[in-house]
Amino acid sequence: MRALRSYKKDIALKGETTVAGDKSISHRSLIFSALAHGKSQISGLLEGEDVFKTAAALRLMGAEIEKKSDGIWQVNGVGVAGLSEPADVLDMGNSGTSSRLMSGLVCPYNFTSFFTGDASLRKRPMGRVFEPITQIGAKIVARQNNLMPFAVIGARDPMPISYQMKVASAQVKSCILLAALTIRGTTTIIEPEKCRDHSEIMMRHLGLKITQENFGDPSNPRGTKISYSGLQEFDAKNFEVPGDISSAAFLIVAALLVKDSKIKIKNVGINPLRDGIIITLREMGGKIAIVDEREVGGEKVADLIVEHSQLKGIEIPASRAPSMIDEYPILAIAAANAKGTTKMNGLAELKVKESNRLLMIAQNLEKCGSNLKMGDDYLEVKGGISQPETITLVKTAMDHRIAMSFLVMGLMLEKGVEIDDSEMIKTSFPTFEKIFADFGAAFEVV
Ligand code: S3P
Repeated sequence: MRALRSYKKDIALKGETTVAGDKSISHRSLIFSALAHGKSQISGLLEGEDVFKTAAALRLMGAEIEKKSDGIWQVNGVGVAGLSEPADVLDMGNSGTSSRLMSGLVCPYNFTSFFTGDASLRKRPMGRVFEPITQIGAKIVARQNNLMPFAVIGARDPMPISYQMKVASAQVKSCILLAALTIRGTTTIIEPEKCRDHSEIMMRHLGLKITQENFGDPSNPRGTKISYSGLQEFDAKNFEVPGDISSAAFLIVAALLVKDSKIKIKNVGINPLRDGIIITLREMGGKIAIVDEREVGGEKVADLIVEHSQLKGIEIPASRAPSMIDEYPILAIAAANAKGTTKMNGLAELKVKESNRLLMIAQNLEKCGSNLKMGDDYLEVKGGISQPETITLVKTAMDHRIAMSFLVMGLMLEKGVEIDDSEMIKTSFPTFEKIFADFGAAFEVV
């Protein structure tokens, strides 16, 4: 446990920075490079614990993965269908993405893989990937309620499935797509609500033939139908991972809230299925300029210039949730410091993230002097905090985004905030503390 404190200071955040590489794209670039023919170089890889778990699992199955210098990694792939049986348990640590993606990847192989994770991950639902995996023909042995640890007994004769997703989850979609790589025949996935498409973009970047068409009401198609015929071979290609918008979000909100701040965050991924936080904060009155838009490996990338702004409360539709699902903890901090009430809808999935985020946001925000209402799938935050008279102790429940959000909240409180543990921050944003220290808002180790 490593407690950390943040306080309101008379310092504006000013200057330029970059953030750590996108977590979703980092996992996927390692996986696809591990399946390519030949050597790939990945630059800007997120050197966070979650991504290291994916790398370790791929190494156990035969891929060579080596760090060349800061953020530059080289992968020697085994070719499609070329993975070998892992000789040890795949330890996924805190990473839901590693678990769901890797379980799909291994399910069409005629071998057994064992998965486990930390105390937080062992509480998270895995049934959402077990359903398509078993339809493909693999068998699962798991703890009660489909919890980790579990084993995937790979299919001898994997079947191409047609699967309609029940939750808007890019992890489930990517689980099936990664399985489809090794399955003869055409796998079809229907996602009624579009969610992040980094796997699909990467597959096209690698020259794989994947078809995508709109699904749903023709006048407003909110979903996609994806088809992929497996066993397509591909050669190694280099990847450049952009900065993670989900990490940038902590800096964006900090700069919007702290008086006189103006910062530039360079090289941030702004994939249209991930940009809900920018749309929302702009609707709240946040001054966020998107400059120098470009495309890297099929992904949209830009620099962001953010200035201190008076935010106002708004209502955020449930339909926007998939495009900003990881950003509600930090958005709630923005809402608590805005004028008026902010209502966030469609938050049921927050209850099964690294913690029950809906509950952790509500409980901790109340302690910080905020007024709010929490429902089964919504949160209504009344802007304007009554400054607590003593330091606020925040419980993080092994959740990196709760930890980072409340350190930002501390910058708005005279008596400050103390989070019980900052260790988890390194799962997704290892440079978080250093960036704030460079801006003059260093956190204090207790
Ligand atoms: C991710 C998808 C999202 C997100 C997670 C990363 C991915 O999870 O919360 O941090 O890389 O596919 P869900 O698929 O559960 O929505």
